[in-house]
Amino acid sequence: MSEPREIRNLTLAGFMGVGKSSVGRLVATELRFEFVDTDELIESRTGVKITEIFARFGEPAFRKFECDLVVEMATWSGRVISTGGGLVVNPDNLASLKMHSLVACLWATPETVYQRTKHQTHRPLLQDPDPLGKIRTLLASREAAYKNCDVLVNTEQRSVKEIAAHVLHNFRAAVHQPPRM
Ligand code: S3P
Repeated sequence: MSEPREIRNLTLAGFMGVGKSSVGRLVATELRFEFVDTDELIESRTGVKITEIFARFGEPAFRKFECDLVVEMATWSGRVISTGGGLVVNPDNLASLKMHSLVACLWATPETVYQRTKHQTHRPLLQDPDPLGKIRTLLASREAAYKNCDVLVNTEQRSVKEIAAHVLHNFRAAVHQPPRM
């Protein structure tokens, strides 16, 4: 028999630039949970920046770090986990996260993502001659995976505070009555 779902953490998923970290920090404060960002954790543990991991070892090596971290997360409780935009695209990662957390996915249009990320350089996948085109293609290819999360939260025209309140509401409801996988 499979183990029952036990929601002890809150995971934020979604594309680059949708506001996972800002929302996550706010939600963590409200819940008095510890805030963890998977990219930051990978960087601090390896001592290598994400851009450099991609450049020196390739994307598959980065995905392996993410998968290893996901396995470790199964032992966590009382944490808000902000995930790198590609982490839940791997169905095994998403299934594992759902066992111990509510997975809320933040959503924004490609245009909004582009506006929010266009002056930043720390995301290797967006260092492209046509960043908006790349965002459109990547987001479309990930749409199905993002929709498999527990909650899909539209961030368009909403403040960080409003989004955080919405996520919190869903989390509190889920803790009382866990949604089915
Ligand atoms: C990635 C998103 C990034 C980071 C890496 C790959 C992705 O995290 O994990 O550059 O595949 O979408 P953010 O979503 O926090 O930018």
